[in-house]
Amino acid sequence: MKETITLGLIGLGTIGTGVVKTLQINKSILEERIGKKINLKWVADLNTDLKHNLKIDPNTFITDGRKIVEDPDVDIVIELIGGCTAAKDFILTALKNGKSIVTANKALLAEHGKEIFQAEQSSQGQIGYEASVAGGIPVINTLRNGLAANDIISLYGIINGTANYILTKMSSDKISFEDALKKAQELGYAETDPTFDVEGIDTAHKLLLLGSLARETFFDMNDIYIEGIRGITEKDIAYAAEFDYVIKLLAIYKKKNGVVQLRVHPTLLAKSNLLSSVNDSFNAVSFRGNIVGTNMYYGRGAGELPTASAVVADIVDISNTIVSGNITKRNDFRIPRANITVQDMDDIENRYYLRFGVIDKPGILARIAGILGSLNISISDVYQKERRAGDTVPLVMLTHKAKEKNIRLALNKIDKLDIIRGKTVLIRMEAP
Ligand SMILES: NC(=O)c1ccc[n+]([C@@H]2O[C@H](COP(=O)([O-])OP(=O)(O)OC[C@H]3O[C@@H](n4cnc5c(N)ncnc54)[C@H](OP(=O)(O)O)[C@@H]3O)[C@@H](O)[C@H]2O)c1
Repeated sequence: MKETITLGLIGLGTIGTGVVKTLQINKSILEERIGKKINLKWVADLNTDLKHNLKIDPNTFITDGRKIVEDPDVDIVIELIGGCTAAKDFILTALKNGKSIVTANKALLAEHGKEIFQAEQSSQGQIGYEASVAGGIPVINTLRNGLAANDIISLYGIINGTANYILTKMSSDKISFEDALKKAQELGYAETDPTFDVEGIDTAHKLLLLGSLARETFFDMNDIYIEGIRGITEKDIAYAAEFDYVIKLLAIYKKKNGVVQLRVHPTLLAKSNLLSSVNDSFNAVSFRGNIVGTNMYYGRGAGELPTASAVVADIVDISNTIVSGNITKRNDFRIPRANITVQDMDDIENRYYLRFGVIDKPGILARIAGILGSLNISISDVYQKERRAGDTVPLVMLTHKAKEKNIRLALNKIDKLDIIRGKTVLIRMEAP
């Protein structure tokens, strides 16, 4: 009978530090919950200066994570180094050696999850990955357990704090994307290279995990349509506000008639929608189940302690199964991917926000409306405030539901008109 759960942590960066602190602050509560002692036997990081930052026995500090995955005493390996190379090796070796894994590495799971979860199935171990989506908000547990009675009809997520912070600042301070990004970088919300956050890739990594759990298959990054927020201007945010909408970067999963949609893009949301009030670096996910209806979860989606909260929750969960000897394999992704159809973007139906740059002349609205009408696109609202005769002015329209393919065909034609200047801006609208 085991008396101690032995942990080895690889990566003492932001989240690793939070995990060590959490294990120290809540040591007695956690040990009572598990009914055993918890021993953090090893902490590995390449940077040896880090060992001075925390109250840990210097003998537990090592630089080589391989020692942890090979140590027969270690029950749970906590991978918090990020990236796809060494992290993948550590995880696969640890599983092969019968250990369980806790990780926050959404990029690794999204890119190599198929191989990793297959390795988990044929191993003695389990993988906990709650911290990989929405930091401190337990959305993975919600999908796996809390909503297990439901067929998940849709989910909408604001799951990248950096992008949400940028859009919030652009709106509240009426500043450009570049200025808002600079602020986010100064505050440490955005990396020096913000590509993953602003191009929607990080959101897509997380959507891949949520969508895969919702549909019980393992999707591929190519299944997701991805569009980031770099093209959003403060003008579009202001025009959206004129119609009582805000712009958010949303992760969207929908299942209708057996077909699935997976997409990440800037989205117009009615101000009255709860997701519209999720501001700054906060995250939220709203799920719709066929039995429960709509549920929404809100909180800190990143950062040292919120993310550590999710990592340590997985440690407790896995420890309990180790202690009870009841390691049941949950096959979260039981349906072969080939049996599921992901809808092509051309075939989705949405409402659209369109901003045209037009020469201010009479009859323009009729020409644009004519092309839209010929492709079964009807206009619900029009906004044109600034008028400067002969000059280029913005003309903003909201459409009723239309097929994406038709919208693209229409814009192709409209953008070629002699009355149009520049490329028309298209932002999809949703009503979660
Ligand atoms: N930060 C967040 O808010 C957040 C939220 C959710 C999920 N996550 C995920 O959590 C993971 C960790 O993120 P983080 O923000 O804590 O990263 P971080 O601050 O960069 O920490 C990673 C640490 O791992 C070390 N490391 C890298 N390669 C190593 C190796 N082969 N062996 C031992 N140590 C190694 C790094 O050392 P060097 O600096 O010397 O390379 C660094 O100290 C990532 O997968 C991230 O996506 C982070």
